[in-house]
Amino acid sequence: MNLSFMEYDDRLILRKFEYLRISVTDGCNLRCLYCNPEKREKISSLSKNWLKPDEIKEIVKLFTKFGTKKVRITGGEPLVRGDIVDIIKLVSSVEDVSEVALTTNGIFLRYYARLLKSSGLTRVNVSLPSLSDVRYREITGGDVETVLDGIRETIEQEIKIKINTVAYGKELLDEIPLFIDFLKEFKVQIRFIEYMPLCVGGYKREKFLDLENIEGLLIDKYGFRKSEYNRYIRSGIYTRDDLKGEIGFIRPVTRQFCDICNKIRISSKGELIPCLFSSKRLNILKLNEKTEEEILRKVVLFIKSTYTKPDIKSIIERDEIRSRIYEIGG
Ligand code: 5AD
Ligand code: SF4
Repeated sequence: MNLSFMEYDDRLILRKFEYLRISVTDGCNLRCLYCNPEKREKISSLSKNWLKPDEIKEIVKLFTKFGTKKVRITGGEPLVRGDIVDIIKLVSSVEDVSEVALTTNGIFLRYYARLLKSSGLTRVNVSLPSLSDVRYREITGGDVETVLDGIRETIEQEIKIKINTVAYGKELLDEIPLFIDFLKEFKVQIRFIEYMPLCVGGYKREKFLDLENIEGLLIDKYGFRKSEYNRYIRSGIYTRDDLKGEIGFIRPVTRQFCDICNKIRISSKGELIPCLFSSKRLNILKLNEKTEEEILRKVVLFIKSTYTKPDIKSIIERDEIRSRIYEIGG
């Protein structure tokens, strides 16, 4: 679409559309303490409002007109949907989509990796908050070996993989040697992520771990060196010569990077979400506008009128919980 009718500011907003995240379900087969500390409803009873595969395709097609090139499928846990392979096939068949990524907890990956590859999936982010059997079970309720098998299978299929490790509690510091051993076996990037106030049932401030602690340990105790600086997340990436993989940090709390955020999100009900910390929604499927230009104007206006940058530290101090991350994806 020719976007020249848009103002300069509007075109800056449009840049965000390059990377679209779609949550395909708010159901999940785990219950991670940093996301869902309360006992959740069963997945089946949540399933009524999920976007259908063809609706997902239509939304992606619409956004490619506005500049979307990369799509990330998230949840909840996307692999609990029986039709996830169809969804990925449909999304990757959309013209102009050059990358289709998936965020998953990895429990079902060992069954799906091969199918996902042949459906056109290019990247997977696996959530792995701990490498200790006991602690993984405590945090998620699941079995870490199952996830490790899934990671092996995904690497076997030559799908690019990153590991998301939410830093939940100081106990993670004792696990650094386990993560280093993990990087001896796997050629992946581990990203430690600061725990954000995005969960049902309350934020446990005492579980927050400033990632300076891990960065310090890697350099001072474990001989890591900085291999790269990632401007986008304002953080270094570290490695060591004997390792296949590397470690990065995402610090939304101590080094908030909202000013350069380029993510736009769609909920599992088809609502546009301007920011993880916003409660404003615009349902894309219910828009009455007739032309794509009118829809685009409406979307840009919505984002302009709703987007205020959160102050994540003060949200934590004031004990406010904003959204539920399992409804909108990480
Ligand atoms: N803080 C930071 N990241 C979180 N995630 C889930 N809950 C939180 C939280 N409270 C991450 C998970 C997953 C992605 C969907 O979001 O690790 O990788
Ligand atoms: Fe499920 Fe992901 Fe939430 Fe864990 S963080 S309960 S895997 S949606």
